[in-house]
Amino acid sequence: MPDDARMSIEIVAEPLTALAEYARVPIAFEVEEVFDVALRERGLGGFVLAARRLDAPYVKDYDAIEDESPAHWARRFDVSNWGLFAAHSEGRRVGGAVVAFDTAGLDMLEGRGRELAVLWDIRVAPEMRGRGVGSTVFRAAEAWAGARGCRWLKVETQNVNVPACRFYARQGCELGAVNRFAYPQLPHEVQLLWYKKLSGIAATN
Ligand SMILES: CC(C)(COP(=O)(O)OP(=O)(O)OC[C@H]1O[C@@H](n2cnc3c(N)ncnc32)[C@H](O)[C@@H]1OP(=O)(O)O)[C@@H](O)C(=O)NCCC(=O)NCCS
Repeated sequence: MPDDARMSIEIVAEPLTALAEYARVPIAFEVEEVFDVALRERGLGGFVLAARRLDAPYVKDYDAIEDESPAHWARRFDVSNWGLFAAHSEGRRVGGAVVAFDTAGLDMLEGRGRELAVLWDIRVAPEMRGRGVGSTVFRAAEAWAGARGCRWLKVETQNVNVPACRFYARQGCELGAVNRFAYPQLPHEVQLLWYKKLSGIAATN
């Protein structure tokens, strides 16, 4: 537990025009361990996920991928049904989350209208990770989607992001799908789709 576990975290709903400021918090993380995903009986016996530490850790940065960084999102999609949350602590932006529902061209939404929202992005400043910022902003995104009638919150991550997998499980998400073939350009990465059933609690923002 960190020294300043009692630090206060303020969540602010911001317009999507704040994506440039949102991106100032890095999403990059160090891959120190991965989940190996094994099949039993060619899948009839299910998937088995086993954490394995890497001999040579490396840095993964989704923002460095062409067209994937926050500045591009509002150009790629109609963001009318998107919510943006910033987490502040002691006057400083320390994290945030972006959530979306019913957005044309956003395949993750499965064409399910308002029924399903996606947690499109969540990030905490590296030096502030592990202090409760992520769970606070996750709850804000969850409440926002629930207040708009969404029944499910979906999140995509990969087997190379073990901290995020543990984080989503801790937030009450369940692994809904494992796709070993989702990323032809990254054959060693496995897509993991997490789902949380929302209770429909009204949001404060
Ligand atoms: C994933 C991330 C958003 C979590 O935010 P956070 O502020 O570090 O998480 P919290 O401190 O709120 O952690 C909440 C719980 O998640 C779990 N958790 C968080 N980080 C973890 C880690 N590195 N290893 C294991 N469990 C972890 C813990 O169980 C923790 O439980 P607790 O409530 O008992 O302390 C943050 O680590 C991050 O920004 N990572 C890089 C960006 C990223 O990967 N985004 C997601 C892309 S899919």
